[in-house]
Amino acid sequence: MPSAVLPMAQPDHSPSAERNKHPILEVLQALLPASGRALEIASGTGQHVVWFAQHLPQWTWQPTEVHRGALYNIEVRANESDLANIDIARQLDVCQEPWFAPDSELAGPYDLVLCINMLHIAPWASCGALIRGAAQYLANGGVLVTYGPYFEAGVPPTQSNIEFDASLRAHDASFGIRQLADVEAQAALAGLQLQARHALPANNLLLVWGFTDPARRTRG
Ligand SMILES: C[S@@+](CC[C@H](N)C(=O)[O-])C[C@H]1O[C@@H](n2cnc3c(N)ncnc32)[C@H](O)[C@@H]1O
Repeated sequence: MPSAVLPMAQPDHSPSAERNKHPILEVLQALLPASGRALEIASGTGQHVVWFAQHLPQWTWQPTEVHRGALYNIEVRANESDLANIDIARQLDVCQEPWFAPDSELAGPYDLVLCINMLHIAPWASCGALIRGAAQYLANGGVLVTYGPYFEAGVPPTQSNIEFDASLRAHDASFGIRQLADVEAQAALAGLQLQARHALPANNLLLVWGFTDPARRTRG
C-alpha cells in the first residue's frame, strides 16, 4: 500500500476543551502578566496548552498528564503547532508527592499552575494534592487556576450539574462535583486562598487561588 493512503494517527480530541478554551483564555489574558512560566496539570488531549501557548506567546508552557498514553497526544499536537514555547509533556500524578526532584529544572518556580476539569473526575485526595503541589512550586505572586463545575453554599445547583454529579458518582464513587467550601478548606491548609471567581458558560467556574501570606502575593 502506498504510504500516501496509510491512515495517519490522530491525537484524541475533546469537544468540551474546544468550547471552553475560548472563555478560559479570555480570563487568563485579563488576569496574567505579559510573560511567565506555566505548569499545566492534567493536560488531557493537549488542546488547551497549544491554544494558550499560541495566544499567550510570551509564556512558556509545561504540559503534564498522569496517563502515559496521553503524553503522545500532547506531543503530536504541540509538534504540529510548531510553537517554541511548549516544553516536552511530562508524566505527573498530583498524588505522587513531591512532584519533582528539588534539583530538577521542572521544579519551578511557576507563575501559573493551571488545572482544567480534573477535580470532579479524580478522587477527592487529588484536590488537596493539587493545591499542596501548586503552593510548593508557585513563585511569589503566582496563582493556581482551576476550572470546572462546583457546588456552592447558597447557590442553587443547576439541574444539569446535579445530573452530571450523579453520573460521575455512578461511574466511580470517588468522583463527583466538589463543594467549593471543601476546596477552600484544602487551600487554607496549604496557605492559598480564593482570589477571584469567574462564572463561565455551561455552569463552570474559573477560580483563581493565590497565597494568603501578603509577603508571597507580589511577584518577586
Ligand atoms: C476530564 S479530563 C480533562 C483533561 C483536560 N484538562 C481537558 O480539560 O480537556 C480529566 C483529566 O484529569 C487527569 N487526572 C486524573 N487524575 C489525575 C492525577 N492524579 N494527576 C494528574 N492528572 C489526573 C486525567 O488523566 C484526565 O486527563
